[in-house]
Amino acid sequence: MSAPDASVLRLGIAGLGTVGIGVVKIVQRHAALLSARTGRTVVISAVSARDRTKNRDADLSAYAWETDPVALAQRDDVDVFVELMGGHEGAAKAATEAALQAGKDVVTANKALLAHHGQALAELAESRGRVIRFEAAVAGGIPVIKALTEGLAGNSIRRVMGVMNGTCNYILTRMETAGLPYDTVFEEARQLGYLEADPTLDVGGIDAGHKLSILAAIAFGTKVSFDDVVLEGIQQISIDDIRRADDMGYKIKLLGVAQMTGRGLEQRMTPCLVPSVSPLGQLQGGTNMVVLEGDSVGQIVLRGAGAGEGPTASAVMGDVMDIARGLRLPTFGQPAATLADPVAAVVSAAAPYYLRLELLDKPGALAKVAAVLGEAGVSISRLRQYGHADATAPVLIVTHKTTRDAIDAAIAAFPGTGVVAGETVALRIEEL
Ligand code: NAP
Ligand code: HSE
Repeated sequence: MSAPDASVLRLGIAGLGTVGIGVVKIVQRHAALLSARTGRTVVISAVSARDRTKNRDADLSAYAWETDPVALAQRDDVDVFVELMGGHEGAAKAATEAALQAGKDVVTANKALLAHHGQALAELAESRGRVIRFEAAVAGGIPVIKALTEGLAGNSIRRVMGVMNGTCNYILTRMETAGLPYDTVFEEARQLGYLEADPTLDVGGIDAGHKLSILAAIAFGTKVSFDDVVLEGIQQISIDDIRRADDMGYKIKLLGVAQMTGRGLEQRMTPCLVPSVSPLGQLQGGTNMVVLEGDSVGQIVLRGAGAGEGPTASAVMGDVMDIARGLRLPTFGQPAATLADPVAAVVSAAAPYYLRLELLDKPGALAKVAAVLGEAGVSISRLRQYGHADATAPVLIVTHKTTRDAIDAAIAAFPGTGVVAGETVALRIEEL
């Protein structure tokens, strides 16, 4: 068999959905540009999807078809296996492993696969002298993996933060601007095709948690530890919370935060309040934003489309271009064998909290609540009681810095006061 022509880089694309077809279109539309920038001709040898008869909005007739993505991954005329099927088990995992074992480089947009199997795949890739690239897996079109592994490589990273699920940000900002309840906007998001096939991945914070765990591994030199991410979704956020938080100068975001603390690695993907005037507070619709903090660079903010055909395919092609140019970095920015086993911080760093409670409007009620907070060691920074027509008054409290444990202890004691009705909402205020 003759040696492959080094001036040509041959792709095998598994998955011809939103992202896969986006990649095909870029390769077809920008052939000359890709060649000028890499000095190589980037071609597609073969493609794979489940249903060959589906109309796919692109001419695929020049490419070989494989029904089995593992067979695609092992083809002799494929140098780079591009995995765009999704899912962390089944075909995506099997074909990615097969590609690495067959000596192919891999480009994937699959955050679930990396969050669950990133370490094993990185070890496999490095043992075979191959690379796995995954820019599209985190924040779609925003080149955040490149920023962390290359541009900020000389920094000790202090904190990584961001809004990394466009669907949740769409839901929260649409609830606010249209004054609509969660259920109505959730249904709207479904109609618009924003939701994953399993919507819990979006609104339960899981998709964004996958992304955060990948960023944390690169930022802090630790093995990916998705199981340690504290996850809380946006399903319980009410229009009342959004309005009241706004009154106090905050927006509610599904915010990811990863930081290395004296108590270990903290990874949280939870609804938080951020100042309305901050870049994160002003983020509207399905857009993503990632904030990176390094000891030398300070804070940088990256903003852009976190999903969709063009932005996600753009990120996939950035990885393909790097491989075409000969750039070969370890998967998580340092050799897989040197990544540390993370110790998960069991207690989050202290922060101010926002509390919303319904208080029976009778003498001494506020004093009883203040006493319970005091006993739990929680100090009040601001307090506001709203006018009301019925027997209970909405009360908002912003605390000074405290721990989640102290807040939970106070909430557990509220019913004993006899003046707090219903559930108390507690949300962390993230300091930016
Ligand atoms: P999609 O539109 O659902 O497309 C998935 C594709 O994979 C389809 O073409 C499907 O074939 C094919 N496929 C699924 N299982 C297969 C199997 N067992 N064998 C062969 N082909 C199979 O998904 P997508 O939105 O393009 O997402 C692809 C990946 O990118 C996922 O990992 C996703 O998380 C990630 N991602 C997506 C976005 C986005 O905006 N969509 C953004 C960032 C990351 P058929 O067409 O025949 O059914
Ligand atoms: N469901 C994801 C989002 C798609 O809404 O951001 C991109 O990963």
